[in-house]
Amino acid sequence: MVLRITVASMLVCVSAWSGVLAQLPAVPVPVENPITEAKRVLGKVLFWDEQLSSNNTMACGTCHRPAAGGADPRVGRHTGTDKGTIDDVWGSPGVVLMNEAGEPLEHPIFGRDPQVTTRIAPSNFGALWANEVFWDGRASSEFVDPLTGDVAIASGGALENQALAPLTNPTEMTRPNRAWDELTEKLKGVRPLALARNLPADVSNAIESNPDYPSLFQAAFYDPEITPVRIAFAIATYERTLVADQTPWDLYMAGDETALTEQAAFGWRAFQRLHCVNCHEPPLFTSNDFLNIGLRLMKFDLGRQIVTGDQEDGGEMKVPSLRNVALRPRYMHTGEFSRLSEAILFYDSGIALPGIDDIPDLGTYFFDISGYDTYDLDAFLRYGLVDSRVANETFPFDRPTLQSELEP
Ligand code: HEC
Ligand code: HEC
Repeated sequence: MVLRITVASMLVCVSAWSGVLAQLPAVPVPVENPITEAKRVLGKVLFWDEQLSSNNTMACGTCHRPAAGGADPRVGRHTGTDKGTIDDVWGSPGVVLMNEAGEPLEHPIFGRDPQVTTRIAPSNFGALWANEVFWDGRASSEFVDPLTGDVAIASGGALENQALAPLTNPTEMTRPNRAWDELTEKLKGVRPLALARNLPADVSNAIESNPDYPSLFQAAFYDPEITPVRIAFAIATYERTLVADQTPWDLYMAGDETALTEQAAFGWRAFQRLHCVNCHEPPLFTSNDFLNIGLRLMKFDLGRQIVTGDQEDGGEMKVPSLRNVALRPRYMHTGEFSRLSEAILFYDSGIALPGIDDIPDLGTYFFDISGYDTYDLDAFLRYGLVDSRVANETFPFDRPTLQSELEP
């Protein structure tokens, strides 16, 4: 114990981060899509509406829930065709396989059960500052109107790009080849959030004043027309207001030394000493860069290389933000670990898979994690980096109850 205190107090002096006021940078907002209250509320309604899926079973929020750190508490297994082998991953259950008429079909792996995604759902909160989102960054900055081909956002539109992807993805939310006008026509005729219960006050007030989608779009865009670009603009606006900046670590950095428990403070020092900060850069706790930490053989998922076509990028995945990480049900893009301590211990495993990247600004990948460090890091991530509004789903992280949560 004495030794720990001595080592830790030495480290305070060398720490690059102590004493720096580490406020989160302002969320970047593209000039084409400024944040307004009417758009934010519409985005919240759309994000939680299961009617956006072609069979009324999936909302964005089904797979991205605040109490699960923005990830999905319902995990499913994607086995490939050869169950029980090392390429098996954990993912999110989406829709059952359908034909183009929307009728369920027998899936070769999942049968009549929902199909499972091939990567785990990351938090939607960490994405607000990134120029490129998804594990491989395939949703990039320029956002093109899928109906006209016109550029709707010249730069900074990764969230808008991302928001349209699940709506056309036949594993996540729709039958194959759903046309945009099928979705927009459907939305014209349904009651917003008709399937959900326990609507948050902001949402129920908005729907009370504007009881259908055309009038909610009128309020947000001064025109009742529902288009994919406007759906994306509203959802991205809502996401940009979900800023999880009230963690004990934020208070600690702002000068409240009592905000972190002693063990979490040790963990914060270990996090810096062990160079976790080189990739999980404070205050976002991600550099938004893509790196291969050697979780698995890259042939199972080429990651960033799929987007860039560059072999150098093989197996690289986006560094996930560690804000609220302790709330997530499983860790890494494969969902390999079910406990935070396993994800931390992974760094001490010494297994060097081919293709592993150097630690930025440092060099060869090597961690010398002592027994104490593991517990301290765990305490830091668990208590230091969780925003209680996210954990407790209070405003702005509040949400309705989904129909899928009500069923037996
Ligand atoms: C069936 C579950 C599912 C549904 C429904 C779903 N997502 Fe996701 N989401 C995922 C998965 C899985 C990924 C990661 C996919 C990848 O990287 O290849 C993801 C990635 C994301 C990301 C990127 C996060 C980052 O840091 O890169 C955002 C943002 C996001 N989803 C928002 C949404 C929105 C908005 C909707 C609704 C329009 C939605 N999701 C619907 C499962 C889902
Ligand atoms: C070389 C860059 C790098 C360094 C250094 C690094 N990480 Fe990571 N970390 C990543 C990447 C990339 C992922 C995602 C890997 C994947 O899924 O393939 C990740 C994932 C994680 C996760 C899982 C997060 C989630 O949402 O699934 C935890 C926890 C974590 N890191 C903690 C740490 C700790 C603790 C340290 C220091 C001991 C550390 N990391 C050092 C790049 C890094």
